[in-house]
Amino acid sequence: MYSEKVMEHFRNPRNVGEIENADGIGEVGNPRCGDIMKMYLKIEDGVIVDVKFKTFGCGSAIASSSMATEIIKGKTIEEAMEVTNKAVAEALDGLPPIKMHCSVLAEQAIKAALFDYSKKNNVQIKGLEDFDPTEDPHDHHELKEF
Ligand code: FES
Repeated sequence: MYSEKVMEHFRNPRNVGEIENADGIGEVGNPRCGDIMKMYLKIEDGVIVDVKFKTFGCGSAIASSSMATEIIKGKTIEEAMEVTNKAVAEALDGLPPIKMHCSVLAEQAIKAALFDYSKKNNVQIKGLEDFDPTEDPHDHHELKEF
């Protein structure tokens, strides 16, 4: 049911923890399963130089957040904005359909952390103009199989 990569990231998640004085912190939750993901970003000159996460959630959510941190580390804000939940799931060699929403949480956590950064630093990030960190990600994604 789960790919080797999912199992590996679940057993040995990368970038777990917090960043003190993070430039952006995003916390998202899925009201249906109750899982919570928190992401911390350190940003210098528009580049994500460090990222850490804490996830209280299922194995797929932990693997998704671990993979998401690996993907966005070293990327520019614009590049990180392009990272979709599909990209996270693909990087994990796929997730079972009923677990795709766990990767949505990872995408939302990145965006929520970037949104926080944009507010704190008074900068505009393209694509986050209408971002609502409290929104249920299910409203934006086709996730019928939950
Ligand atoms: S079951 Fe909710 S995030 Fe995975």
